[in-house]
Amino acid sequence: MRTPIIAGNWKMNKLTADAVALAEGLNAQLSEFSGVEVVVSPVATVLSAVASSLEGSAIEVSGQNCYHAESGAYTGELSPQMLKDAGATWTIIGHSERRQIFGENDALLNEKLKFALASGLKVMFCIGETLEEREGGTMGAVLTRQLVDGLAGLSDADFENVVVAYEPVWAIGTGVVATPQQAEDAHAFSRNVVKENFNATIADGLRIQYGGSVKADNAAELLGQANVDGALVGGAALDAEGFAAIVRAAL
Ligand code: 13P
Repeated sequence: MRTPIIAGNWKMNKLTADAVALAEGLNAQLSEFSGVEVVVSPVATVLSAVASSLEGSAIEVSGQNCYHAESGAYTGELSPQMLKDAGATWTIIGHSERRQIFGENDALLNEKLKFALASGLKVMFCIGETLEEREGGTMGAVLTRQLVDGLAGLSDADFENVVVAYEPVWAIGTGVVATPQQAEDAHAFSRNVVKENFNATIADGLRIQYGGSVKADNAAELLGQANVDGALVGGAALDAEGFAAIVRAAL
């Protein structure tokens, strides 16, 4: 059985006081839960404060991105070691906003993924098609390329620390959530790509989160799909009660 994983991607939101208040709110809402893994991904400047406030809780902390070097002349970048130093055990890699706004391609993301894993972080690796790709009939090819090129070179052991997040770009921040069937189809397709390019054991064990306009009122149905193993939540993760309700939907 795959343990569900619910993660909140706070994106570029919240200064320290608000971020700590949200973490404290989550702690209060989620003082006791089991059978589901919960992760929050604050902006890097507040990561350490959020990690401190969540110390002793079962809620894990994630970065939103990192570079594939430990240190050096990479102005503006962050290394996995720095994320860990600030209290993160996870990082997101390959979010569509990184791919689209910052031009990150599959080859770069593969380097980042391998380096983050080798550095001891767990990774939520994002994939997903645009509306144009879905409507143009290239969705399968896009997901296949993102998975095959993005996960290239990973060992069986690496996969124990990787979660794939399927986030259709057209559903992110739009309020247009994929139907449970659309999510299930894309997840089943992605799992099969992993099976064909790696092996059945890895594919069966791989958790695939859905992301894109997940809210408390649509989470249960999405999470009820056979191949949907969790959620990566944006907007609705900025509210403790709303996020906690999504976590409870996974129990
Ligand atoms: P929304 O939940 O705001 O649509 O964002 C999804 C997302 O991008 C999570 O990484």
